[in-house]
Amino acid sequence: MKLGVIGSPIEHSKSPEIHTNFADQFDLELVFEKYLVSKNECLEWVKSFFESGGHGLSVTLPLKEVVLEISDDISSRAKQAAAANMLFLKDDKIFADCTDGLGLVTDLKTKEINIADKKILILGAGGAAKGIVPSLLKENPEQVIVANRTPEKAIQLVAQIQELGGSQMKSSILMPSSLTLDNLETTSFDLVINATSASTSADQNLEVDSSIFKGAAAALDLYYSQTDTKFMQMAKEQSVAKVYDGWGMLVEQAAESFSQWTGLKPDTSGLLESRGA
Ligand code: ATR
Repeated sequence: MKLGVIGSPIEHSKSPEIHTNFADQFDLELVFEKYLVSKNECLEWVKSFFESGGHGLSVTLPLKEVVLEISDDISSRAKQAAAANMLFLKDDKIFADCTDGLGLVTDLKTKEINIADKKILILGAGGAAKGIVPSLLKENPEQVIVANRTPEKAIQLVAQIQELGGSQMKSSILMPSSLTLDNLETTSFDLVINATSASTSADQNLEVDSSIFKGAAAALDLYYSQTDTKFMQMAKEQSVAKVYDGWGMLVEQAAESFSQWTGLKPDTSGLLESRGA
């Protein structure tokens, strides 16, 4: 089975190791390669990958939105996220899905971090935030605040998701905010998630007040990193008991993609433990 991951940059991707681990559990022979693909060449590249026997692709930055253009069928969660992190060939058609949100929710459950009836703060309102908010809302949180450096983007994201959620979506559950949280009545959250891209840059200048961690049981950076990100360091300094990076989510979103590509459900525990999750 020919699989792969596309993006730019791609060198750092751990997807080949993750999928090889899954395949080994079933003695399944597969080829999983990293491909450096730019936005400009993406659509042609994907087309020829599937025409030449490719079965499935993981999609990472900056291609998650553009791949929708070449997809014949788009899952409702990919439509909601307006992005896909995986493609595969089904009945000669290219199917696009977004498994990021499910990956995060599965990871939080494994880590025994509750979502139902909890107050969740999401930092950032870009593609990463959009991919996870709908899945978190399905778990019946008390409130989800999307806080962004550019507040207009948070307002826009919330409006988009509320529109798709229809009348069931109470505006008191999902709310936009500035990163300083000045517009909020309460600044106490159970779970704080960093969905900004700040952790990807060396200076990691994430301007949030450390009081956002006050009383929080858990903090999770969607970015995966060998060392603690600044966000994780801040959370630990504020004595948050459970502080994680995005490794678990990466493994779980991959497991969901692998299941769809192969029909086999891999055990993720070995990979999760290998990172001390
Ligand atoms: P992604 O697809 O990874 O989410 P993106 O769409 O470029 O990437 O969005 C990046 C997000 O990180 C944005 O919410 C951005 O805030 P702005 O909308 O104000 O640009 C946020 N971000 C990036 N660097 C940041 C920083 N140093 N501090 C705070 N927010 C940051």
